[in-house]
Amino acid sequence: MATSPVGGRPGATATLRVNGVDRVVPLLPDRSLLYVLREELELTGTKYGCGEGECGACKVLLNGVAVRACKTPVGEAVGPPIETIEGLASSAERLHPVQKAFIEAGAFQCGFCTPGMIIAAVSLLKRLPEPTDEEIRAAMDGNICRCGGYARILEAIRNAATTAHVPSRSV
Ligand code: FES
Ligand code: FES
Repeated sequence: MATSPVGGRPGATATLRVNGVDRVVPLLPDRSLLYVLREELELTGTKYGCGEGECGACKVLLNGVAVRACKTPVGEAVGPPIETIEGLASSAERLHPVQKAFIEAGAFQCGFCTPGMIIAAVSLLKRLPEPTDEEIRAAMDGNICRCGGYARILEAIRNAATTAHVPSRSV
């Protein structure tokens, strides 16, 4: 699991805005956001892959931009809205367009990389609603799929861009 170096005063807390809800967590500023999301808030959709900032499995949206939660100290996440994979769908029946596109394209096998891929794609499409294939590849460069499903991931993001420009839920 992600390391959780000590820091901050014992008993200090902070409020994070996660998926539109205020969540109070222990404030150890150097502890990784990934640790807090998974261990304190039980939002385990965000995956722990490498813990070193190299695989992208842990990506979440911070102020609408994809960041690697394993390399983000929780102290940096106090204030801006955080959105995890659990926050993208308003309900099981109302998935985010990028989630739908991944399902329709069959863009996953084991699914471990999928939350980070979807978060990265949402971030890209917020910034560039009509990306070229090269722009998609560049944006997804830091996300590793050990199952090698890159062709379908590219197809899913391309389809999401052309079928719906729906921003992620504001938080
Ligand atoms: S777990 Fe964060 S980049 Fe791999
Ligand atoms: S679907 Fe298995 S790692 Fe990407």
